[in-house]
Amino acid sequence: MVDLKTSFLGLELKNPLVVSSCPFSSDPESVAQLEQAGIGAVVMRSIFEEQIREDVATMEASLDGDTSAAAMEYLRTGLAGRFGAESYLDTLADMRRRVKIPLVASVNCVEASNWVAYAKKIERVGADALELNLYHMPVDPAEDASHVEGRRLALIKAVLRETQMPVSIKLSPHYTSLLSFARAADALGVKGMVLFNRFLQTDVDVEKEEMFFAPEYSTPSTLHSQLRWAAVLRNRVKCNIAVSGGIHAWDGLVKALLVGANVGYVCSALYVRDDFCVIGEILAGLADWMGRKGYHCIDDFRGKLGERDLTDGKGFERVQYVKTAARIK
Ligand SMILES: Cc1cc2nc3c(=O)[nH]c(=O)nc-3n(C[C@H](O)[C@H](O)[C@H](O)COP(=O)(O)O)c2cc1C
Repeated sequence: MVDLKTSFLGLELKNPLVVSSCPFSSDPESVAQLEQAGIGAVVMRSIFEEQIREDVATMEASLDGDTSAAAMEYLRTGLAGRFGAESYLDTLADMRRRVKIPLVASVNCVEASNWVAYAKKIERVGADALELNLYHMPVDPAEDASHVEGRRLALIKAVLRETQMPVSIKLSPHYTSLLSFARAADALGVKGMVLFNRFLQTDVDVEKEEMFFAPEYSTPSTLHSQLRWAAVLRNRVKCNIAVSGGIHAWDGLVKALLVGANVGYVCSALYVRDDFCVIGEILAGLADWMGRKGYHCIDDFRGKLGERDLTDGKGFERVQYVKTAARIK
């Protein structure tokens, strides 16, 4: 009998499979079904910083100029509960009542502004942790990389000041130096990093001559980049690592754990299969593989493979085609 228990962000999980932020995780009934299907934890669908900020702006506009700073702060903190963004908290509270598994709230955010007070509300209604989806498409040619990253770090710092909950960040792979940014965020005290966020994909309809957002579901081949970065990051940051993107079956989860991830997130597989049974299948596959390999618990093999184990022993520094291509007849 194998033991699938693990920990993530300081939380005890009955297994290392987590449903990532998506519409299924915005509905309390679905989350209850996900728990029944055996999932280890759920990340709730993101609320957007703009949704929270809009509420703050509405409230501030209704206050007269003599309102004291302390009163403003009080009102801001209470704001989201009174004006919109409230339903997010209600939904979270409903989920909290229905399920025992850890619940991670999620905010899609860019700036350290007064929305960060909302983190306290999220904590009060029973989230176990908060994931910051640092979704940002830098389109200002005058803003250089260090400035873009500095703003993200300021945001993380501001949120960490607001809450006692463990905070994780969901990253995109598009950093000039992902390692440097990840280490800076780690030093601030984030408890986890999610590799990676998935942007809406752009496509073009050549008949209509229109741009559109292509289907958002991943395939198992999406996993490669996450595996590489999990292997690179895992000994260079103190915080936990979650692999998100391309886990569709048990072997995807095993790969993520072998390269050092603490958990694997699953999302597209639920949609592609249109069935939560995939959760049981992934966990049964993991348990069966562990049994075959003689592993009793996750720590027996988690992180067993790293950069040094690449076949040619050269690490990830040069991930070009040269060697592989040279071997192709
Ligand atoms: C329909 C849909 C909605 C999503 N909504 C969110 C969201 O609100 N916040 C977020 O951080 N990620 C969101 N994601 C991204 C997923 O959480 C996940 O990171 C991504 O799909 C990669 O994992 P996968 O390959 O298992 O799908 C969404 C994905 C899909 C398919």
